[in-house]
Amino acid sequence: MKKILLTGRDGQVGWELQRTLAPLGEVTAYSRATLDLADSAAVCAAIRALRPDLIVNAAAYTAVDQAESENSLAMQINGQAPGVMAEESKKLGSLLVHYSTDYVFDGTKDNAYIEDDRPDPINAYGRSKLAGEQAIQAVGCRHLIFRTSWVYGLRGKNFLRTILRLAEERTELRIINDQFGAPTWSRMIAGATALSCVRKTPPEGLFHLASGGATSWHGFTQAILELTRHLRTREPVLAAIATREYPLPAARPQNSRLSCERLAAEAGIRLPDWRTALGLCLEN
Ligand SMILES: NC(=O)c1ccc[n+]([C@@H]2O[C@H](COP(=O)([O-])OP(=O)(O)OC[C@H]3O[C@@H](n4cnc5c(N)ncnc54)[C@H](OP(=O)(O)O)[C@@H]3O)[C@@H](O)[C@H]2O)c1
Repeated sequence: MKKILLTGRDGQVGWELQRTLAPLGEVTAYSRATLDLADSAAVCAAIRALRPDLIVNAAAYTAVDQAESENSLAMQINGQAPGVMAEESKKLGSLLVHYSTDYVFDGTKDNAYIEDDRPDPINAYGRSKLAGEQAIQAVGCRHLIFRTSWVYGLRGKNFLRTILRLAEERTELRIINDQFGAPTWSRMIAGATALSCVRKTPPEGLFHLASGGATSWHGFTQAILELTRHLRTREPVLAAIATREYPLPAARPQNSRLSCERLAAEAGIRLPDWRTALGLCLEN
């Protein structure tokens, strides 16, 4: 039986992974309370004690705006801890699965980003996530890095849940319509991870993993409202605004679209269109 070490078990992706990885082996899942990624010695000790065949790191510092003022903590968790995991993984010969983000790019490209495009993050979170990717690559353990985008799900803090709440509280929703990307359901990410890991020879390297198609935050909101209209007692007015009308501490890339052709070609895995996935998620 394979031994699997999972971090971030209470997060959107981690929570789903606990379920989808269960048929693959014996999963030992850590929350922040049981394994703090800011504590390198604890990370080493947990891996050395378990000697896992597979390490899946779904934990991350994901507070994008807060990272601007907590730069060094974000860097410790997102930049350094993955490198520590990679060192231990290399000693054991195990596979390290790690997640990264569209925010490693500056968003100025006209079309979808491919894995070989040059990253150039425009915020502290993006810089910390890029450092994590580079740390793993520098160690050179067996690794699988999935860059994903605009993650939502049925649990945790995410855009879908925020919109569902605000739709009940407000008469008008003013949502950004000049940032483009693919909303991606955490369950789909977990499913693609399990499908990759169950293969006799799992894909290795850097892969983009996001829903098909693209929309804006405004388009995403419109779809959420349409698909949940029958569940609501009231209907807010939806207004489109520009990024500059909603200033936040961290800058966001305008174009977050990720081309996922590499994973489709190498592993035969492709996530459904974002709207299809949203419909499936909302059936829950
Ligand atoms: N969310 C997105 O839109 C998005 C977009 C692109 C890429 N990603 C990447 O996808 C991966 C999964 O993200 P997600 O959406 O599932 O994030 P999430 O819901 O915020 O979950 C992250 C988990 O990491 C845990 N964590 C935070 N600091 C920690 C620490 N010091 N030690 C141990 N655990 C810690 C959190 O614990 P608490 O529950 O205690 O806070 C949380 O359970 C991450 O690598 C993220 O960077 C996310």
